[in-house]
Amino acid sequence: MFFGEETFKREILSKIPPRDEPPLPPDWLQLEMLERFRVLQQATLRSGMNVLEIGCGAHALTTVPLAYLVGETGRVVAVDKSRWRFFEEIISSAGMKPRIFPLKLNARELPFPFKTFDLAVLVHGIRSMKSENTMIKVISEMLRVADRIFIAESLPVAENERQKAHLELYNLREEIFEALFGEKDDLHYPTLEKLQELVEKAGGRVIKSGTFEPKLPHYLAYIPREYVEKIKDEEKRAKLLGQWDRAYEKWKKGAEHPPVGWILVKER
Ligand SMILES: C[S@@+](CC[C@H](N)C(=O)[O-])C[C@H]1O[C@@H](n2cnc3c(N)ncnc32)[C@H](O)[C@@H]1O
Repeated sequence: MFFGEETFKREILSKIPPRDEPPLPPDWLQLEMLERFRVLQQATLRSGMNVLEIGCGAHALTTVPLAYLVGETGRVVAVDKSRWRFFEEIISSAGMKPRIFPLKLNARELPFPFKTFDLAVLVHGIRSMKSENTMIKVISEMLRVADRIFIAESLPVAENERQKAHLELYNLREEIFEALFGEKDDLHYPTLEKLQELVEKAGGRVIKSGTFEPKLPHYLAYIPREYVEKIKDEEKRAKLLGQWDRAYEKWKKGAEHPPVGWILVKER
């Protein structure tokens, strides 16, 4: 099967060099891309589609499987407001660069005058949108420029100890970022009901939604202890270091992706 998982691993993931970022394993990026590949199976992608991706991030984790799934005649316009550090190197080594058009901008205002895309996607990105106001604004922009939109995000739910270990370390990130930079990032995961509420406030109508288990290890809750040590507020630093130490002990025994919630939406 051309678009199957085994072919994706062989033709794409195997071309991307391993990474040297301990304590993360060398294949963390491949495992994360595989998770995005599985998430995108719910997005009803077809060959030749013209897709907009919001919040592609520095590692093109969703962008590469998206570009693979739309095939040689499809294209992906990948938007991010700031993080591009490894993007070009990764899409080039994966052989997907000719299908991907990067755009550096804030998705609160998209520079397309009418419905230009078959689909707009936001995968594991709503957590970075800082406020509910921005989330609603971005979703309404996605609805304005695409026939349908697909949003997927991890859920605040743990079905086993490994998922619990992920959530415990991940849930420290919001407070650590706020203490370090005065601004929250990696907000706690929303419930599926919350995602639906945001979409409705943005003028969308849910066509289909669901949850699924990626069944893959997950390393991206990790944040180095040295970051936490830099927090200036003494009381906050001591509290967060204690929480980090306890969460890291569990995380290093193995963490897994929590269930993912997804929704497919049209403009009302
Ligand atoms: C968690 S990261 C990467 C998610 C990526 N899609 C994945 O699969 O892992 C989310 C990204 O959204 C970007 N972002 C947040 N708010 C944004 C906005 N208003 N406009 C454009 N990009 C935004 C951030 O810069 C960040 O790179």
